[in-house]
Amino acid sequence: MTMSFEGRVAIVTGAGGGLGRAYALELAKRGAKVVVNDLGAARDGTGHSDAALKVVEEIEAAGGEAMSNGGSVTEYDQMVELVAKAKERWGGVHILINNAGILRDKSFAKMEPADFDLVVKVHLSGSANCTKAVWDTMREQAYGRILMTASSTGLYGNFGQANYGAAKLGLAGLAKTLNIEGAKYNVRVNTIAPVAGTRMTEDLFPPEAFAAFAPEHVAPAALFLVSEDAPSNVIVGAGAGVYQTAYVTMTPGVLLPRDQRTPEGIAAAWERISDRTGEIVPQSGSEQSMAILARLQGK
Ligand code: NAI
Repeated sequence: MTMSFEGRVAIVTGAGGGLGRAYALELAKRGAKVVVNDLGAARDGTGHSDAALKVVEEIEAAGGEAMSNGGSVTEYDQMVELVAKAKERWGGVHILINNAGILRDKSFAKMEPADFDLVVKVHLSGSANCTKAVWDTMREQAYGRILMTASSTGLYGNFGQANYGAAKLGLAGLAKTLNIEGAKYNVRVNTIAPVAGTRMTEDLFPPEAFAAFAPEHVAPAALFLVSEDAPSNVIVGAGAGVYQTAYVTMTPGVLLPRDQRTPEGIAAAWERISDRTGEIVPQSGSEQSMAILARLQGK
């Protein structure tokens, strides 16, 4: 069965190129009305261009419907205005893909605090801004699909990307709580960790790999995660046709007797504490706390 987005209104941030453009084109092809947001910055976040407008022209040339928006995700007021315009023209907003991003790579020793702040501001606060701007609308509609863009750097780390990694894992954390708060309003929140050959990674991939990692191979996972029957609270890795899921797990660990609750006791029990046999994936922080309580009560 074909997955249709007919009647849906979608916002894709940072959709003037790379992954966002691929998502916007595919959503429009499948019937969604798309707000193509992009301030058209360079890779480090400086400057402006009409990148969003060009993607809208591409969508319209293919028979789809779209509007461009040159606002910055770092400006909450501009995101509120973006949502208001989408609602005025199309009556609602059903899908938000938080995709806009920049890089300011440097080893932590050389990283200026300003480069740390800006990367966190664009990725983490920017996604929170856009999400906050659509949140009430989605709750009132009792329908919303939101996708956060994390990264393997956030999940696992990468040299030279302390700012980026902090922001990216922050997004996975943001998704987890919003997923809980949105559940009763049919607002589902997921996270994607893409790998794609774009200008962001152009100096990373050799030319032949660059083609294999085209953004078009990530788009199917992104669309699935914002579709009507999307799962919720998942982290999906996608790149070059490989699709995976990632989990934040916890080992069963040990309940130490009182007299062993010392640094020496932890050292002695370390093997059992870190033994991954029987790992669990708590569905919330409080579920995790309650599980500890149940254990103390011998349940
Ligand atoms: P890209 O550089 O082509 O796309 C990012 C877009 O965001 C650009 O068009 C840029 O103008 C826009 N942008 C930057 N600051 C903005 C702001 N303040 N407001 C609105 N738009 C803004 O890079 P790519 O690869 O397509 O990245 C898309 C997302 O995927 C980013 O969040 C990136 O961190 C993430 N990602 C990409 C990976 C890859 O392998 N390409 C790996 C992991 C994550």
